[in-house]
Amino acid sequence: ARSYEYILTSEPKPGVGQVTLNRPKALNALCTPLIHELNQALGEFNTSDSVSVIILTGSEKAFAAGADIKEMAPLTFSEAYTTSFIESWSQLTTQIKKPIIAAVAGHALGGGCELAMMCDILYCTEMANFGQPEIKLGVIPGAGGSQRLTRAIGKSRAMELILTGRSLSGVDAAQWGLAARAFPSYEALMESTLKTAETIAGYSKVAILAAKEAVNKSQDLPLRDGVEYERRVFHSLFGSEDQKIGMKAFAEKKKPEWTHK
Ligand code: CAA
Repeated sequence: ARSYEYILTSEPKPGVGQVTLNRPKALNALCTPLIHELNQALGEFNTSDSVSVIILTGSEKAFAAGADIKEMAPLTFSEAYTTSFIESWSQLTTQIKKPIIAAVAGHALGGGCELAMMCDILYCTEMANFGQPEIKLGVIPGAGGSQRLTRAIGKSRAMELILTGRSLSGVDAAQWGLAARAFPSYEALMESTLKTAETIAGYSKVAILAAKEAVNKSQDLPLRDGVEYERRVFHSLFGSEDQKIGMKAFAEKKKPEWTHK
């Protein structure tokens, strides 16, 4: 594995790639070089034949405490505008076709919360601390927070959090639908995340990618267009070897041996 300054990469189980944010002195604040490394690592997992699903996590103390405030402080409008500051963060949502599971413990604030929301499945600990505190710094969320949080938990709750800068616990996150599940401990979070990743990695890669693509379309398309889009993708899967393999195995009561083709 390549060595990075701000992240760690591993393949903890067959088919599973993991990126661990590793800038402990700054609670994984997301400085520009960290984002570059993250994009690089995710890009490599995305094209790797040995990986079907990706876990993105931080430490027990912090998933990420947001964009790097010290780096941002001197930025001018024209610099932010002409360099399209923050845009490269969303490479995760446009370039990575494999599912990404965010495993969030500790702080997921500002850009950290936004990064977690860009992932496909969000798991957290009950003690996790989510929030969009940008208002306290004289700005607003800049990596999709006002849009993704609102879609996840509804307008009134998102408005309250974004206008007050108040944070929300992992328990609330799971109750409100921001997280798929909240776990009582860090160990339980990491164990269940790996189990879910292994389950997904046990299926046809073709179907996994198609499922992610179809679900994500629901965020951008009106219902009717989304349903039609899904049906087209569904039809296309009858051109895969794995559709024949999966359905034949069901009829024969056998375990499918996917070719991922
Ligand atoms: N940027 C830069 N450094 C940060 C940071 C950040 N977002 N968050 C924490 N750090 C640094 C602290 O400056 C501190 O460094 P020093 O030891 O050199 O002073 C170190 O990490 C440890 O932090 P604390 O001492 O503050 O730790 P704590 O346990 O007392 O508090 C915390 C934890 C509540 C998360 C607090 O650090 C905090 O409020 N952080 C900022 C959270 C925030 O406002 N995030 C939003 C950023 S704006 C943004 O993300 C814009 C966007 O939408 C893209």
